[in-house]
Amino acid sequence: MQKLFTGLQPSGSLHIGNYFGALKPAVEMCKAYNGMLMIADYHALTTLKDPRAMRENIMSVVKDYLAAGLDPTRTTIFKQSDVPEHTELSWIFQCLVTTAFLELSHAYKDKVAKGLEANAGLFAYPILMAADILLYDTDVVPVGEDQRQHLEYARETAAKFNNTFGQTFKEPKEMIIESVAVIPGTDGRKMSKSYNNIIPLFGSKDEIAKAVMSIVTDSKGKRPENVFAIHRAFKREEEIAPLYERSKSNYKAIKEALIEDIEALIGPMRAKRDSISDDDARRVLEGGGERARKRASKKMLDVREKIGVTI
Ligand code: ADP
Ligand code: TRP
Repeated sequence: MQKLFTGLQPSGSLHIGNYFGALKPAVEMCKAYNGMLMIADYHALTTLKDPRAMRENIMSVVKDYLAAGLDPTRTTIFKQSDVPEHTELSWIFQCLVTTAFLELSHAYKDKVAKGLEANAGLFAYPILMAADILLYDTDVVPVGEDQRQHLEYARETAAKFNNTFGQTFKEPKEMIIESVAVIPGTDGRKMSKSYNNIIPLFGSKDEIAKAVMSIVTDSKGKRPENVFAIHRAFKREEEIAPLYERSKSNYKAIKEALIEDIEALIGPMRAKRDSISDDDARRVLEGGGERARKRASKKMLDVREKIGVTI
């Protein structure tokens, strides 16, 4: 079975765009692979310096994935900081790649242009990510388009190590998740936590209803396109078309139907999420961390041998 590895930064509450664009496809893919899902807490540390938020976000992301159907007995769910081999290998890789190579990173330049601190961790970010992936002889890495360059970094780093010390690492392939469609937010722009236009994934029914009622509708078209574009993610177009035809400018009726359709999907997931305790989440991470560490430490024996630090 092919090995799949993916990671995500623990960045707080999710919205329905994240669900369709990331959560759902990841859960589906893990069913067909020998999968690992890593919470990239040390990557998050490059920008997040609030221990309380860090802890809450980690807990929250584990619960979100379990509620969305990820099976922790099949997929290894763990956090990066529980497997010190990641940072160890990252150091070894940093001694192989040049700063000029890292200066080519779009993600780094974009983040600094946005005003984030240009700390050394942020600069070395792609190398820690290469270590995450290469430690487990990964075949495929499902990621969004914005992560494509990071996979190039991982392959080049693997090649550099292999050329220097002999064949050790497999070159992984990205699997770019083409979002079925970008889910628009309540203002018609891409739904994003940075635009304040979200429908929360695990919000209460009231919170979801409030967000839906605030979707901007424009009366120019023959149907409220913003509402329709969100609705389409929950039900097939043929199923909702008659409602839109029938209700035309009765936006309230259309939005009420959307709220019910969202609730039909989210309701059971929310109930499942509420039933997962902090201790349940901790146990999943402990089990996953142990499994990951076993594999990582085995790989590092070979790496240390190759570079000549074992005597
Ligand atoms: P945000 O824009 O809210 O900060 P992120 O950039 O953290 O979201 O994205 C996390 C994941 O969710 C990515 O895989 C991204 O492709 C997906 N995603 C984010 N917003 C949307 C959206 N509106 N529609 C579809 N997928 C999305
Ligand atoms: N950089 C990725 C992101 O922000 C998160 C990540 C860290 C990752 N390590 C990884 C993704 C390894 C895939 C594989 O989305």
